[in-house]
Amino acid sequence: MAVDVLLGLQWGDEGKGKIVDFLAEKYQIVGRFQGGPNAGHTLWIDGKKTVLHTIPSGIFHEHLMNVIGNGVVIDPITLMNEIHGLEKGGNEVRSRLSISRKAHLILPTHKLLDMASEASKGEKKIGSTLRGIGPCYMDKTGRNGLRIGDILSADFDEKYKTLKEKHLHLLKLYPAIEYDLQPEEELWFEAITHIRKLQLIDAEYFVNERLKAGDSILAEGAQGMMLDIDFGTYPYVTSSNTISSGVCNGLGIPPRAIRNVLGVTKAYCTRVGSGPFPSELEDADGERLRVAGNEFGSTTGRPRRCGWLDIPQLKYATMITGTTHLAITKLDVLNAFETISVAEQYKVNGTLTDQLPFDISEGIREVVLHNHAGWMADIQVNQYDKLPEAVKNFLTYIENQLQLPVSFVSTGPGREELIAR
Ligand code: GDP
Ligand code: IMO
Ligand code: MG
Repeated sequence: MAVDVLLGLQWGDEGKGKIVDFLAEKYQIVGRFQGGPNAGHTLWIDGKKTVLHTIPSGIFHEHLMNVIGNGVVIDPITLMNEIHGLEKGGNEVRSRLSISRKAHLILPTHKLLDMASEASKGEKKIGSTLRGIGPCYMDKTGRNGLRIGDILSADFDEKYKTLKEKHLHLLKLYPAIEYDLQPEEELWFEAITHIRKLQLIDAEYFVNERLKAGDSILAEGAQGMMLDIDFGTYPYVTSSNTISSGVCNGLGIPPRAIRNVLGVTKAYCTRVGSGPFPSELEDADGERLRVAGNEFGSTTGRPRRCGWLDIPQLKYATMITGTTHLAITKLDVLNAFETISVAEQYKVNGTLTDQLPFDISEGIREVVLHNHAGWMADIQVNQYDKLPEAVKNFLTYIENQLQLPVSFVSTGPGREELIAR
């Protein structure tokens, strides 16, 4: 019937996985369309935590098919670890998971190239998750990559060797890094033998046929709009299109099939890795947010940088993504704040603006804050109308600023801690 898109409006880790898991029961297909194991999507179900890196967050629902689209880059080792981990926990995975034959493969040497590239950048490093994402997408656009479909071809080992040799040659251009490739390669080939037995499909035919038959698809974004390769804080971005158009490229879906775009944002803001962050707090409030929000990376464990919600950034993100509805997460993290600030405007070249300048690091001299009275209470309601007045005022302010409805409010990590309006 239609495709709804769920994506992050900030720099990732907005709580996308949790909302996908909640919404999944209304859909027949959940599909990842970009990114790879740089993502870490956390689900808390019945008190048990699962972090998904490559598998879509609909996997706990028995009625639906989870599709890893062509736009995703796959590390076979991570994927098989994820599958085996879920199966050990007693979950059915294989009948609920299918993978596009056109999805690209992350080779062990892509991870080495990621490491060498970051090490060579010194102070200017991106803060990559070092999962080989950038080098893999480089091979894709450079037309050298290996795809899932290739693992079924007779000359796959030869293709692998050719690409690996190229990578080893490239590595020599960087300052030397230490590595032991052989054990990693053994694990990689072992994982490939397992992947051959999974449902490898022509996903573009599958999703379009299912759409025609009346099914609904939820497309699950990874990362966030500000990490988009074109519109994010370049070069401090990831290597894929994290915006709505990525769904068309990464699942083979025509633009007209897209219905709603649910943009997910925290009630404040975080970023992990380097790069500009206009509303960042490098003071006690930043530390309070980090502690209250347990802001440590789901993939790398790194502390996340924290700051206030940023309205110009969100106006930009909702414009580019065509967001139709908002989901505000981690509202509970603000429970103990007497005052909650929001960045409302930037000062660029001496004038106030709500537009992002080309060079965010250099351009933004000052951030103008708008203060809200905090609610100073636990939020233990499951109806929007029962929220404390101060919470509703805060949410209404966001709605007015962005001219979009807040459709979901998340008040805790658990599956049930969500208010749907
Ligand atoms: P994703 O990458 O967008 O799926 O988000 P992550 O899983 O990387 O990070 C979100 C973190 O916040 C995870 O640890 C979630 O369990 C947690 N979380 C999600 N929603 C809420 C919420 O409303 N309140 C609190 N306190 N934690 C939440
Ligand atoms: P989810 O899906 C937060 C960041 C990295 C780094 C930059 C580039 O869980 O929201 P890469 O490994 O892609 O070369 O890293 O992007 N990054 C993320 N930050 N959440 C993510 O995914 C991220 N995926 C990549 O920290 O700054
Ligand atoms: Mg994450």
